[in-house]
Amino acid sequence: MTSDSTDAAATPAVVVQLTDVRKEYGDSVALDNVSLRIRAGEAVAVMGPSGSGKSTLLNMVAGLDRPVSGSVVVHGEDLGALSERGLALFRRRRIGMIFQFFNLLDDLPALDNVALAAQLTGVPAAQARRRAAELFDELGIADRADNYPAVLSGGERQRVAVARALMNRPTILLADEPTGALDSRAGEQVMDLLLDLNQIGQTLLLVTHDQRLAERCASRVVEFADGRIVGERDMESVR
Ligand SMILES: Nc1ncnc2c1ncn2[C@@H]1O[C@H](COP(=O)(O)OP(=O)(O)OP(=O)(O)O)[C@@H](O)[C@H]1O
Ligand SMILES: [Mg+2]
Repeated sequence: MTSDSTDAAATPAVVVQLTDVRKEYGDSVALDNVSLRIRAGEAVAVMGPSGSGKSTLLNMVAGLDRPVSGSVVVHGEDLGALSERGLALFRRRRIGMIFQFFNLLDDLPALDNVALAAQLTGVPAAQARRRAAELFDELGIADRADNYPAVLSGGERQRVAVARALMNRPTILLADEPTGALDSRAGEQVMDLLLDLNQIGQTLLLVTHDQRLAERCASRVVEFADGRIVGERDMESVR
C-alpha cells in the first residue's frame, strides 16, 4: 500500500471548512475571522459565554446567514457562491438542525412534522411517511406518531425534532442547546441519542452550556469568547 492510500484511509473527509469568517451587527463583531475545520464523524461541541457568537457560527454552517468576509464550505459546496434558492436547497438536503425549543409545527401530528422535511425535497408523501415511521421506531417514539406536539413531553418533542433533522440523511447535524429546555432525565436521553448517532457515523456540531453534554458527546470542544476561538480540547480520552 502506498503512503497516499494509507493517509486517505486514516483521515476522514473534511465536511465543514470555515476560513476567516467574519460577521458584524452594526458596530458589534459577532464572528471575528473564525476558521474551523470539521471532519466526517467528528462531534464538535462549541462552548462559551452568552453573546460570544456560538449560534451565529451554527447559522453560518447551516447557510442561514452569510459572512461579510471569509468563506464557508460544507460538503464541498462554497455557500458564498449559492443563490438564496441554492442555499434553501442546500439546507434541506445537507443540514439537519435541532434547537433548544424544538421548533415543531404545532398544528401537525408528530409524524407529519417529520415526513414534511422529506416532502419539501420532492419525496412522495407515502415514501416520506414510511421513512419517518422507521425513524420513530429507531428513536423509541413510534407510539407518539399521531400525537400533536402539545401533548408530548419535552424529551419526546426533542426526539421528534431529531427524527425530522435526520430525515434527509444530513451531512452534518447541528444542535443549538439541545438539552437546554429539558429536565435532567430527558436531557440525558437526548445526550445518549446524540452519542449513539455519532457512534454510527453522524457528524455533529453542537452548541451547549452543559459541560456534561460536551464530555459525554463531543470528540472535540471548541471554546468561544468575543466571536473568536480561544481554545480547543480533544475529548476522545474522556468520553
Ligand atoms: N439578529 C441580530 N441582530 C443584532 N445582533 C445580533 C443578532 N444576532 C446576534 N447578534 C449579536 O451577535 C453576538 C453573538 O450572538 P450569538 O447569538 O451568536 O451568541 P451566542 O453565543 O449564541 O449566545 P447565547 O449563549 O446567549 O445563545 C451578540 O453580541 C448578539 O447580540
Ligand atoms: Mg445562542
